[in-house]
Amino acid sequence: VLQSALDICEAAQTEIVQSNKRLADAATNTINSGVPHEIAVSPAHGQFLALLCRAINAKNVLEIGVLGGFSTIWFAESLPGIHVTGIEYDAKHHKVATENTKGLGNVELLLGAALDVLPRLAEQNRVFDFVFIDAAWEEQAQYFDWAVKMTRKGGIIYVDNSVRQLTESSEEERRPGAPAVALIEHVKADKRVTATLIPTLNTHKKELLEVVDGFLFAVVQ
Ligand code: DHB
Ligand code: MG
Repeated sequence: VLQSALDICEAAQTEIVQSNKRLADAATNTINSGVPHEIAVSPAHGQFLALLCRAINAKNVLEIGVLGGFSTIWFAESLPGIHVTGIEYDAKHHKVATENTKGLGNVELLLGAALDVLPRLAEQNRVFDFVFIDAAWEEQAQYFDWAVKMTRKGGIIYVDNSVRQLTESSEEERRPGAPAVALIEHVKADKRVTATLIPTLNTHKKELLEVVDGFLFAVVQ
């Protein structure tokens, strides 16, 4: 039953992508370039990110970890007047994301390690309404701190794959102090935000065991 429900969701999502030429071309270009598109945000997830931007009338989005720019496109097209700043560590991913977002005037893709780029953005007093953290899992707590510094009151910090890390990790990785566990403890202790952890089913995945995922969702006080 779950598999057939997932198949129905997946078919609906494929339709969404095929009806948006930029998303469809981006998916093709990403796959042809050898960038792992199967770990990009699913169409349902991308739509959700876009709706969140609309719900809070976001003007400035920061994305940490861009991959091929699939989520970047969802953000950039979510509502008029929005601007997206993306940070990508991998030069090949950055190149493909730049190709995929070519012609979108509201996207700025920075190449570099997030922990080098984030302090520069903070120095420039950049303020964001929405920060999407989707990069190196060991560094999420540090990204989170930079995000809190640069997010306006009422803004959102969204950490992708927070649940998947817990369900996938070995017992060793679930020990206190392991990155995924540490992130949750870190956010719990941070009085500047109110947060929750939302499990999801990733219909983009073919293997049922890979379907369980989830994200950490925080609002800045
Ligand atoms: C996977 C999914 C992600 O969203 C990500 O950021 C990294 C990996 C995965 O499904 O393997
Ligand atoms: Mg992710």
